[in-house]
Amino acid sequence: VKIVFQESKNLDFDKVVDLFYSVRFLRYPKKRDEYKAAISKAFKNSQYVVSAYIGEELVGLVRVLTDESLFATVWNMVVSPKHRNLNIGKKLIHKCLSRYPDLHFFLFADDDVQGFFEKTGFKTHKHGMYLEHGRKVCILYN
Ligand SMILES: CC(C)(COP(=O)(O)OP(=O)(O)OC[C@H]1O[C@@H](n2cnc3c(N)ncnc32)[C@H](O)[C@@H]1OP(=O)(O)O)[C@@H](O)C(=O)NCCC(=O)NCCS
Repeated sequence: VKIVFQESKNLDFDKVVDLFYSVRFLRYPKKRDEYKAAISKAFKNSQYVVSAYIGEELVGLVRVLTDESLFATVWNMVVSPKHRNLNIGKKLIHKCLSRYPDLHFFLFADDDVQGFFEKTGFKTHKHGMYLEHGRKVCILYN
């Protein structure tokens, strides 16, 4: 299969939302419009976005938030369940790392994908912290 990578923030956000529902990043069908608005704003306000396509189908996605001087964070790394284990995820991450080779990268990973990120060079940090209140107010979790 031919996989085409695109470095652009201008995405078809209906496709993005469908991909996020398919991996349960999003849960409630009734909130689709609200999710779509929040997600398109998040992508527009990110510094670097890479998407992967097979034909017209969006099959993978990742975005980077960074100060472009010291730190960078990876968000929304996702590959469509139908197209896993084709190295799409690895290539997406590598594009992020080579876009900002001099920055210190961070990310949050669920238990079941830590092995994937370890293969791309990340290590687990036992002191990561977050505000519980943030989870309660973020539209993605409510
Ligand atoms: C994690 C994810 C992005 C991996 O994408 P992918 O395109 O299937 O991964 P790749 O084909 O690039 O795999 C690269 C390597 O990681 C390994 N790998 C892939 N998924 C893995 C997993 N869940 N656990 C451990 N290793 C994994 C592959 O076997 C491969 O190993 P190799 O280089 O030795 O052959 C994908 O499974 C996904 O979207 N998961 C759901 C969404 C999610 O949880 N994202 C993370 C949010 S923080």
